[in-house]
Amino acid sequence: MLKARVPAMAENLQELHNEVLRLKTARNAVILAHNYQLPEVQDVADFVGDSLELSRKAAGVEADWIIFCGVDFMAETAKIINPGKRVFIPDARALCPMAGMLDVEDVVRAKKEHPGAPVLLYVNTSAACKAEADYACTSANAVQIAKAIPEKEVLFGPDFNLLEFVQERVPEKNFHPMPARGFCPTHGRITALEIYDLKKAHPASEIIAHPECTRNVREMADHIASTSGMLKIARESPATEFIIATECGMAYRLRKELPQKKFYDVNVTCPRMKLHTLKKVRDSLEFGQYEITVPKEIAEKALKSIQRMMQMTG
Ligand code: 13P
Ligand code: SF4
Repeated sequence: MLKARVPAMAENLQELHNEVLRLKTARNAVILAHNYQLPEVQDVADFVGDSLELSRKAAGVEADWIIFCGVDFMAETAKIINPGKRVFIPDARALCPMAGMLDVEDVVRAKKEHPGAPVLLYVNTSAACKAEADYACTSANAVQIAKAIPEKEVLFGPDFNLLEFVQERVPEKNFHPMPARGFCPTHGRITALEIYDLKKAHPASEIIAHPECTRNVREMADHIASTSGMLKIARESPATEFIIATECGMAYRLRKELPQKKFYDVNVTCPRMKLHTLKKVRDSLEFGQYEITVPKEIAEKALKSIQRMMQMTG
């Protein structure tokens, strides 16, 4: 019974893959996918990357449609950067819980409590929050942007782990969290014990952690980087084995790009990222669903913080 189903499924995926390619051409669409997407979604995408790379890519899209396989804030950012394009997300429930931890009211209140302090927001936030921000950042450029901000007191949100990571590297400034302790539930499930066990089993490996990991995990890491930063480190390092402390989709990308190296991952999943199946990508192209819209006045304000980020990091 099981034997009969496995090839049938593979065939189905191949058929869907071909169907997606056909519809993509018919719609004049591009597919952008985050590093955490399912293997079959990564394989059909025109471009796979981290939040920063995807924003840059979205800015240069000339096709009519962007099918964005990532979470809400990423697709919104694409729409804000390239408002003339129609942006679709294959599953409208792909909402990042960390982004949901910061409301625009929290930002407005923090600004009143710290007059004159600029707002630096992780891109993992709603467009409405970004509209209240002075600067946006991703995990790839948060330290660089934080250093470049002239003021000493800076409001930062929503990820407390990223804030700590930045604070350690920019000690001359004070970063005030909004909300008190925002976090990523997926990275929060990665424990120092798991990393310790993996290191014991594979002592020659280097540990690469995402800055959204807890301090205990970050302290064990040889490198801390954004998802695409992990790929760069693994590519350039003379080491041949790596422990990867982030969502499991990243290990697929790493193994595909660097088949000669070994990657040990912690097997945590971001359930919201994984909502986009190949069938939903196909349906998105066929039926034009689910379209991302951002109110014009919010988009125009949010664009300023995103553009500043792009200009400051080249
Ligand atoms: P990256 O920008 O490093 O890909 O991270 C995005 C994210 O949501 C990580 O959880
Ligand atoms: Fe949001 Fe965490 Fe999922 Fe990234 S891994 S999209 S921060 S919930």
